[in-house]
Order: sequence, then C-alpha cells, then structure tokens
Amino acid sequence: MLLGMNISIVDSWPKKDPKKLIALLLPQEQLAEMSTLLSKVLGETVSLREEDAEKGKKNLNTVNGQLLAIIGLGATPSLETLRRNVHEAIEVAIDFRFKELLLVGDSNNWTDNEWVAIVESLSLSTYQFLTYKSKKTDLVLHKTSIFAGRKNTKALAKGLSVAKATCIARDLVNEPVITLTAQELGHRIETLGKQYGFKVDVWNKSKIKAMKMGGLLAVNLGSQDPPTFSILEHKPETPINQQPIILVGKGVVYDTGGLSLKPTANSMDFMKCDMAGAAVVVGVMCGIVDLGLNYHVIGLIPATDNRPGQRAYTPGDVIQMHSGSTVEILNTDAEGRMILADALSYAKNYKPELVIDLATLTGAAVVAIGHEGIAMMSTASEETKQALKQAGERVHERLVELPLWEEYQDQLKSDIADLKNLGGRGAGAITAAKFLQHFTDYPWIHLDIAGAAWLSTASSYRGKNGTGVGTRLLIDFISQYQANNG
Ligand code: BES
Ligand code: MN
Ligand code: ZN
Repeated sequence: MLLGMNISIVDSWPKKDPKKLIALLLPQEQLAEMSTLLSKVLGETVSLREEDAEKGKKNLNTVNGQLLAIIGLGATPSLETLRRNVHEAIEVAIDFRFKELLLVGDSNNWTDNEWVAIVESLSLSTYQFLTYKSKKTDLVLHKTSIFAGRKNTKALAKGLSVAKATCIARDLVNEPVITLTAQELGHRIETLGKQYGFKVDVWNKSKIKAMKMGGLLAVNLGSQDPPTFSILEHKPETPINQQPIILVGKGVVYDTGGLSLKPTANSMDFMKCDMAGAAVVVGVMCGIVDLGLNYHVIGLIPATDNRPGQRAYTPGDVIQMHSGSTVEILNTDAEGRMILADALSYAKNYKPELVIDLATLTGAAVVAIGHEGIAMMSTASEETKQALKQAGERVHERLVELPLWEEYQDQLKSDIADLKNLGGRGAGAITAAKFLQHFTDYPWIHLDIAGAAWLSTASSYRGKNGTGVGTRLLIDFISQYQANNG
C-alpha cells in the first residue's frame, strides 16, 4: 500500500496553489542559486540565509501566498541526510493536510544514487498498512512532484521499485498470524511470483516429511496449521553468476516460544514479525525481477508458527535434522535456528556461490546493537563481506560484524546428541550463528535482523512496525555483485 507511487518529475513551475506545499531541500552550498530560483518562480525576493541550510532545520514561510517549507541539508549532504529530510518534507505536507507536494532542490547536481534516495524516501515515508482499517486513508496528500530540469526517469523508476519491494516486505510483516499462516504465506508468494515473473514452488507437509526436514517439522508439532517450504527462483538466460546466490529467510509466522513460552512481559506482542527474514526474501525477489537484474537468485523460506500444543516439541527432545545431524532441544524458543538449519542444509544441493540468511533470530542481537543496524556473522570472503558492508552504508541498513570463533562452538555440545539448540549465557547472537554454521559448507552470511525489523516507535522514513529492513540492502548488494566464477 503505497501512496508515494504517485511521484512525477516536472520541469515547469506550477501555478500558485494553496493546496500545494513547496518544500525546498537546501544544501549549504546553494544559498545564492536557490534564492535566485525561488525569487524568479515565486515572483517575490527570497533571500535564504546560512542558518536556513543548517542540517535538520525546518522552517515554514509564506511567500507571495504560497507556503514554503525550507529544509536545511547542511554541507555536502549524505544519501541518508537526503532521505531523512525528504521525510521531513512529507511530514509537513501530511501534518498540514496538503494535497500535493512540490519538492525543489539542487536537482541539476543530484547523482543517480541521490535521486534514488530521494524517491525511496518519498515513497517509504507515505507507507500505510490499512488492510484492517474501515476508513482506508486519512492522508490528504496524494501526489508529489519533483522539480527538475533534467528528468531522471530511470532513477525515479529504480527508487520506486526498491521502495515497492520494501513495502511488500512491510505488508507481510504487518499481517497478523490469524491471516498469515505458513500456508497463506505460501499463497502470497505464489501470487507475487505470477505477478512479477519468478518461479515458485511451495512444498506442503507431506513433501517436507519426505524431504526429512526434521527441524521444521519439530517446530511445527505444536501447531494446528501445517508448515510450508517455499522455493523462489529468478534464473535469467545468461546470468552473470554461474552458481546461484541463495537467500534464506526465517519464516516463523508467529513465535510464542512454544512450551518454553516467552518469559518476558509484552515480548510476544510483536512476534508476528518473526517472519521478517522471509518477507525480505520475497521483497528482494520482486525487486530484482522488477529491476531486471541479471543474476541467478534462489529464495528458500521454511515457514511455521511456534506454539505450545499437546504434541508440541519439548525441552529434552532429540530431533534428527534434514542434514542427518541430531539436535537436543533445550529451549523450544530457540526455534528459528531449527527451521533455518534445514533450509541451509538443503541449500547445499545447489552448490551455491553464496548463501545469505536473514532472520529475527535472537534477543541478544537487539541487546547488542538495538534497532539501528544488523548483526552479521559470516564465513564468506573479506571482499564479499566488504561489498555487503558498503551496500549497508549506502542504503543505511548498516552491518556490525560479530566473530564466529571456534571456541563458541563448545557451548553447543550436547551429552546425547550431535549438538544442542541452546548456548550459554553469553554471546547469544553468536552461538545461534554457530549452530547455523554447522549446517553450511559454502560461503555464507548470516544477518540477524531482530532489532531493525520491527520498530515500536516511528523512525523517519523507516516508519513504525515492520520496516522491511534488509530489502534495500540486498537489492543494492546483488545489483553490484561481482560474480565469482573461478
Ligand atoms: N524470535 C525470537 C528472537 C527475537 C527477539 C526476535 C526479539 C525479535 C525481537 C527468537 O526465536 C527467540 O526467541 N530467541 C531466543 C533464543 C534463546 C531461547 C536462546 C532469545 O533470543 O531469547
Ligand atoms: Mn523464539
Ligand atoms: Zn523466533
């Protein structure tokens, strides 16, 4: 649900219109140029001052009957400064109930990346999840125009694709489990596959049994709803990469903790977000197909809810996984690693060049870095990790790397099985990753998105509730990926 889809570029100044807000994105370096431009088009002398351009400064004026919001960008604004200030412009337009927004800035000098950042933020800032509201919108704002002599329609289209992919992920995360069961997630993936043009295969419970995905089946034991395992594939005719890139997403459509019921007050309130990794994989597939990226990419999504129930798996159980390894369960709330392990070991069949998993995996990752980034643990090359980190800086979905030192593996030793699903008191995000590593034999990146996937308070263009974090990161990363065909 995207209002920001209605964005266009105009090269002529519109007639005076009190229903329209003009927002000026003002960099420190452009005071004179912007003053001249505004004076000319508004028909009254406007002299912008140094302080108007201070980073984060928001300033409302009426010039010749036209409301003008001046938003300071500071000196040489970063992509993120542009995104945040575009959000400020949208916020003024929404708060004052304008019908239209005209965005004015130093558009002649915007790079493609700057254009994309601006369009992304325009779009993401107007996202709403209205499926369950009787009144479908209270947004008066329905149109944004960007004033620019050079119409960068390519960057406009790219920004819209990326934002749309992010909002597909957000919509899935925001959908409650009473609707979005594992099966329904499969249906939605099938629908999106048809719409965008990627291949989808959704396995049902008997296929999952035949494939001996013991981890996924164990987590599903307490549930009334069957699990699914979805395979998404985008395979262009002559892709840049010879071996596929595989994206694995944790699809726990709801996490109660199971019999080891979540012990922390209110921590269950937002556990419909526990399929955010899966949602991102779906969003990224839509995005890369929409952008026509020439890479062979496969998505794997194991999905189930995690609930207590008469037959629910229990602490003390020993489960045989898809890989053949056995796992002693010591906490049924450590369920994400159980379903991901099966997907990661299944991924070996493709001889992948790189596997990236995304998961709302641990509270420990939230404790470590809060909501401002993603915890990364990886066995991939330094080059690959660097490339992903750089993508993270560009899109401002930043990565913090934690180590996978051998010593952590000791915490997963079991008396009676090959390993247990629970580590010790320390390093919870790392021991979860060490567990997953056991099921990989290829270059692998694990992204624990538990902190940034869900926000209880709004944060600029990221909004509130499901953020879709990871979508922009992976679309940016894949579009710049240097295939390793050696
Ligand atoms: N889904 C949770 C992790 C989570 C926490 C996601 C906060 C989003 C926000 C995961 O399944 C979980 O319960 N992890 C446990 C693992 C523990 C039992 C080893 C945790 O982190 O407490
Ligand atoms: Mn859990
Ligand atoms: Zn979980």
